[in-house]
Amino acid sequence: MTARYRAAIVGCGDIGHAHAQGYLANEEVELSAVVDPVEAARRQFSDEYGVPEAYASMDEMLAASRPDLISVCAWHGLHAALTIAAARAGVPAVICEKPMATSMAEVDAMIDACDRAGTRLVISHQRRFTPGWEKAREVVAAGAIGDVQTGHGRGVHGLLNVGTHIIDGLLFLMGEPDARWVMGAVERETERFERDTPIEDRCMVLAELADGAQIFVESDLPAQRGMLGPGSQGITLRVTGTDGMLEASEYFCRTFTADTQGWRTDFANDDVDAIGGRANARQVRELIRWLEGGPEHRCSARRARWTTEIMMAALESARRHRVVHLPLEERSYPLGAMIDEGLLVPSAAGAYDIRGYLRREGIDEARYAELRASGLGHHEIMARLAGVQWRS
Ligand SMILES: NC(=O)c1ccc[n+]([C@@H]2O[C@H](COP(=O)([O-])OP(=O)(O)OC[C@H]3O[C@@H](n4cnc5c(N)ncnc54)[C@H](O)[C@@H]3O)[C@@H](O)[C@H]2O)c1
Repeated sequence: MTARYRAAIVGCGDIGHAHAQGYLANEEVELSAVVDPVEAARRQFSDEYGVPEAYASMDEMLAASRPDLISVCAWHGLHAALTIAAARAGVPAVICEKPMATSMAEVDAMIDACDRAGTRLVISHQRRFTPGWEKAREVVAAGAIGDVQTGHGRGVHGLLNVGTHIIDGLLFLMGEPDARWVMGAVERETERFERDTPIEDRCMVLAELADGAQIFVESDLPAQRGMLGPGSQGITLRVTGTDGMLEASEYFCRTFTADTQGWRTDFANDDVDAIGGRANARQVRELIRWLEGGPEHRCSARRARWTTEIMMAALESARRHRVVHLPLEERSYPLGAMIDEGLLVPSAAGAYDIRGYLRREGIDEARYAELRASGLGHHEIMARLAGVQWRS
C-alpha cells in the first residue's frame, strides 16, 4: 500500500522510539521527518528508521514541510507550545505525549488552537490500547461487578508522570464519568523535579465522579509496597462495585464476585506492549480512522483534559486546604504556585531531577551507539552513561 500520510516525530528520545514503532507498523503512514535540537539524537533516529528529513526545531521543519501527523515527544513543559505550533501550521493531527500539560491554561490553549485549526489532538495515554485494561473496561461495562463504587491505583515517580496514566486508566475502566470534586494532599520535603518540572515527593488524590463513584490515587507514598495487585509488571488498577471487584494491569484482568468462587482470571498474557509496539500502532490506527471521519479517539484531548483537571485540582486542594469543586478555576500549575508562595519549603536543599539522566547534551555518543547496537533501550543506556541505577 502507498503511504497516504506523512508523520514526524518531534523529540528523538525514549518515547520517540515508541511513536516510531507506531507509525512504522501502519502501511498508510510514512515516517518523513524527525526534529531534535541535539544533532546526534536526530541523526540516530534518521539512521535507525530511515527517515529522510531531519530538523533542529519544529519551526524549521514547518517552514520546510508540513507533515500530516506530528508526535510531540519532548518534555512536559514543551507540550503546549509544540502542539499549538503544529495546529497553527495546519497540521491535521497531533499525538502529544502525557502529561498533556502542567496547567489548565495550557490545556485549554492546546484544545482551542486545535479546534480552530481542525487539528485532531490525541494525548498518548496509550495504555488504553492494552488488552488487560480493555478487558477490564468490558467486564465493568457488562455489569459483572455491579454499579461501580471505587477505583484505586498506586504509582511512583510523580503524579504528572505515572499518576496521569493511573487517573486516565481508572476513568477508562469506569466508563469516563466527569469528576465533581477533588481533594488532594501533597508533601515536598526535597527539591524534586521530573523532566524539568517541579513535582511533589508524595501525594494522594481523592475524586468524586458524576455517578457518585470515587477514585483514589496514591503516588510515591512511603509504606507503598510497589504497585497494587499480584503482578510485578505494569500499572494495576482496582475497581470495586456493588457486586464484586476487579483488578487489571496492561497484562491481566481478574474478577472476584459471588459467582466466581475466588479470583477468576479473565485475561493474562506477558506478551503485551504497554509502551510502543502494538499499543502505539493501534493508537495511530485509531487516529487515522478519526481523521477519516470515524469515532472520537479514545485518547482524545477532551478525555485527557479530565485527567489533567483532576491532577491540577488535587494540587490546588492541597494549596487551599479544602475540597475543590470542578470546573477548576486555577489556571496555573498549583504546585509551582505553592512553591512560589513559600507553602512547600524543602527541608533538604538541592534541586534534583529524577529523569535528569535523560539529558542528551555532552554524553559519549560513540558509547551510546555501541550500547544501542547491543539492543539496550534509551532510558537504560542514558542511565548507564550517567552512572545511575535504572529501573523500568
Ligand atoms: N506514554 C508513556 O508511557 C511515556 C513513557 C515515557 C515518556 N513519556 C513522556 O514523553 C515525554 C518525553 O520523555 P522521554 O523519556 O522520551 O524524554 P527524552 O529526554 O528521552 O527525550 C526527549 C527528547 O526531546 C528533545 N527535545 C528537547 N527540546 C526539544 C524541542 N524544543 N523540540 C524537539 N525536541 C526537543 C531532547 O533533545 C530529547 O532527545 C515526556 O513528557 C514523558 O512524560 C511518556
